[in-house]
Amino acid sequence: MFNTNILTRFNNLETPFYYYDLDLLAQTLQACAYASAQYNFHVHYAMKANFNPKVIDKIQSYGFGADCVSGGEVKAAIEHGFDKGKVVFAGVGKSDKEINEALDREIFCFNVESVQELQIINDLAKAKNKTASVAIRINPNVDAHTHHFITTGLEENKFGVNTWELPAVAEALGQLPNLQFLGIHFHIGSQITDLSVYKNLCVRVNELQQWFEERNLPIKVLNLGGGLGVDYYEPDENPICDFASYFKVFNDFLNVKPGQEVHFELGRALVAQSASLVSRVLYVKNGIKKNFLILDAGMTELIRPMLYQAYHVIENLSGKERVKNQESGIKNDESGKEVLSPESGILSLIKYDVVGPICESTDCFRKDVELPESYRGDIIVVRTAGAYGEVMASGYNLRDRVQSVYSE
Ligand code: LLP
Repeated sequence: MFNTNILTRFNNLETPFYYYDLDLLAQTLQACAYASAQYNFHVHYAMKANFNPKVIDKIQSYGFGADCVSGGEVKAAIEHGFDKGKVVFAGVGKSDKEINEALDREIFCFNVESVQELQIINDLAKAKNKTASVAIRINPNVDAHTHHFITTGLEENKFGVNTWELPAVAEALGQLPNLQFLGIHFHIGSQITDLSVYKNLCVRVNELQQWFEERNLPIKVLNLGGGLGVDYYEPDENPICDFASYFKVFNDFLNVKPGQEVHFELGRALVAQSASLVSRVLYVKNGIKKNFLILDAGMTELIRPMLYQAYHVIENLSGKERVKNQESGIKNDESGKEVLSPESGILSLIKYDVVGPICESTDCFRKDVELPESYRGDIIVVRTAGAYGEVMASGYNLRDRVQSVYSE
């Protein structure tokens, strides 16, 4: 992710900013495109993960479709060159204005989440003398084994149609002439690292497609959603997801009939590792019980740790450089871990609570992070921040919007 001259470059820039490694992004997209093509699976990029213009331009150039959850995302996808025939509009609360705009843009499909929504889309399409293609998002009640804040496929979640409501859906589809039924859609949660969860999903999908076929509602598209997790703990060891194993599960367990298309909506897995949040230490507060590193970035730039207790690797690039320059002073401690000897002039690793400048106690990236002794002006990077990072930044405290910087 970081080449040798990166610190010099970062030192000359105003912080905070998101740093995008466009080569890593390209390699990730290539790996996903290759693995999905093995089975003729189609991937729609989940725009919500990151809609930075350079990022979506790159993603679009690999031929992926776009999975959108607002009128704004549909508009951005089409303006950035995504084929409108590969644009899907999902979301539990689409407004009439958004539906109308999507109808005007002639997108591929609406992923619909209730009988009431079917009725509304039908009426709006009728008023325009159009037919809207729809897929039904079904809540399969499959546990994603991920953080409960980002689980979506359980009956207690607000998303999708529950299975006991399916008879009403089938009836509505038979009575609404301005809808064309395309297929069924699922998304059970995000940051899923246990692939057996997807096997469970396939079993449910196979049963459910049978249910539709028996009611003379043939399925052309099976949309399995997204959710593939990334390695937040060892980003340098695993910079690219194992897309081959992920798609293989579906190839092995999903019952795909001739002529059917299989769609996915990956977000995080395509973009997470390609960006870091780069900030500077503003102040170091050394206390008796705690040491604090106060950064110029906080929850306004990256809210995941505060919102989901999400773990991100945090590094002090300036500190690492100082350590490197004093290599002669390195020795091993009892556990074999490398630490700096006191003679080197730099203390060994120190535990810091790494916090932001926002006036909220939750504005903390992580407690007790072991870092080389740190100073005002040091460059701190928060890794694996390319998904749900920049897009969830806010203007709270009337702070400037976070900037973006790209690898050259
Ligand atoms: N499809 C649907 C219907 C979704 O709701 C989502 C994500 C995706 C696809 C893409 O999921 P992915 O492949 O990125 O896991 N802000 C949270 C994650 C929220 C995910 C919302 N839905 C976070 O920072 O972890």
